[in-house]
Amino acid sequence: MTDSGNPPKICVLGACNVDLTCYAERMPKWGETLRGNSFDLTYGGKGANQAVIAAKLGARVSMVSKLGADLFGQSILDNLKGFGIDVTHSTTTDKGRTGAAQIMVDDKGRNAIVVVTGASDLMSEADVLASKTQIEEADLLLVQWEMPLAISMQAMRIAQEAGTKVIFNPAPIGLDISDEIFSLCDTVCVNETEIMALTRMPVDTVPQIEQASLELLGRGAKSVIVTLGKKGAFYASREDSFFVEGEAANTVDSTGAGDCFIGSFAYFIAQGSTPKTCVSYANKIAALSVQKKGTQISYPSREELPFLPQ
Ligand code: RIB
Repeated sequence: MTDSGNPPKICVLGACNVDLTCYAERMPKWGETLRGNSFDLTYGGKGANQAVIAAKLGARVSMVSKLGADLFGQSILDNLKGFGIDVTHSTTTDKGRTGAAQIMVDDKGRNAIVVVTGASDLMSEADVLASKTQIEEADLLLVQWEMPLAISMQAMRIAQEAGTKVIFNPAPIGLDISDEIFSLCDTVCVNETEIMALTRMPVDTVPQIEQASLELLGRGAKSVIVTLGKKGAFYASREDSFFVEGEAANTVDSTGAGDCFIGSFAYFIAQGSTPKTCVSYANKIAALSVQKKGTQISYPSREELPFLPQ
């Protein structure tokens, strides 16, 4: 609940994909056909994953996205509606296919992903304008990088003007990012690969991660979170910085753990908890998600989180 006693309102501008996942003992070599152990066809996409965990925790979530008018588009919308997510501004197009991700997971739970963002690339300025009220009325806007950056920045400017908090997750990381985007964010949430790409600084130790985070703060971000998988997470703002240790977990599939962390962090920060509490809860929830296969289907429900205040 927020200070007003209502559940937080979160608007997610991002991609909904179908995930085609092969589980195998190891990754194949170039030119090799490797026999795998199992296959799953599930709902994914960084935006949709973050929306689902926020909704499962209790947020009122609206999803702004673009899907193909194909086999997967409608079933993805039905899946989101099943979590109580408002999909009024998730529309379909016959000019592109629903986003799809080809995922391989090895027996240590590590993944490699190729994502084809498809219809998400066709999100337009008019689509963002159509969802203006949703963005303005939300406590928080969540944005990733599975959509054109110019479109994301348009939504972030609307949010900033309306006093809606913004979390930006630049994943999958690309080139050509201007510093203006950091000044539009309340929090930039990155993993080790992403912060290295953004800063070109080493991030092997906590002091190095702190230096790289300071660099992003210097470029305009108000706060930075670096997720470190099993090792935990680092948070820095202009006032504060801390490291939260990772949780012990029997990892079977780490896919979507970062999304689980971000959607959880978004829920707790929109609710008014302190950054330290938010990072600590998000870390615990993400550690539970890696113990099951898949992304959204691995996320715990509120009942499975006894450490949360009731
Ligand atoms: O972060 C995991 C997600 O990345 C998957 O669900 C896949 O769709 C890709 O977008």
